[in-house]
Amino acid sequence: MKTLIIFDSMYGNTEIIARDIAKAFSPEDTRLLNVKEVKVADLLEVKLLIVGSPTYGGRPKQETQAFLDMIPGSALSGKRVAAFDTRFLAKEQNFGLRILMKTIGYAAPRILKILVSKGGDAASSPEGFIVQGKKGALKDGERERAALWGKNLSLS
Ligand SMILES: Cc1cc2nc3c(=O)[nH]c(=O)nc-3n(C[C@H](O)[C@H](O)[C@H](O)COP(=O)(O)O)c2cc1C
Repeated sequence: MKTLIIFDSMYGNTEIIARDIAKAFSPEDTRLLNVKEVKVADLLEVKLLIVGSPTYGGRPKQETQAFLDMIPGSALSGKRVAAFDTRFLAKEQNFGLRILMKTIGYAAPRILKILVSKGGDAASSPEGFIVQGKKGALKDGERERAALWGKNLSLS
């Protein structure tokens, strides 16, 4: 398996984005797994690891954080890594929330930092996809943006 895409999702939006990203890769070489199903052994044959989570309080969801914590140090050496999240659009929030969101940040940069700390080579900048409320839906154009992000990763 060359590409492993791992997602976490409470209301389904991050899963939709993960599936759109997965479409850019050849099905024979690619696995798409819910973070609840992943074991460390699944990482062994992987050349590109993509991890996506909803942003919760500026961080990845708890299950994703638990998975990241479980990856042994340097287990990602020689592998390319990338991270995405789903999130609110800060500029559409009230002033207080905007400041808070700017301060606490988002899940994807944190995920990528951890993947790199375990030896991975960043294949892309962390990317965020926008939901319109905590249950979604995804903002117009975000699924197409995810497909393009996946395409760029598959070609790089
Ligand atoms: C408890 C909770 C905390 C959240 N915190 C943030 C946040 O800090 N920043 C943000 O942009 N969105 C935040 N959100 C919105 C989530 O990112 C949104 O619900 C998620 O993208 C939906 O993804 P899912 O459908 O895959 O569960 C929060 C949502 C919940 C329920």
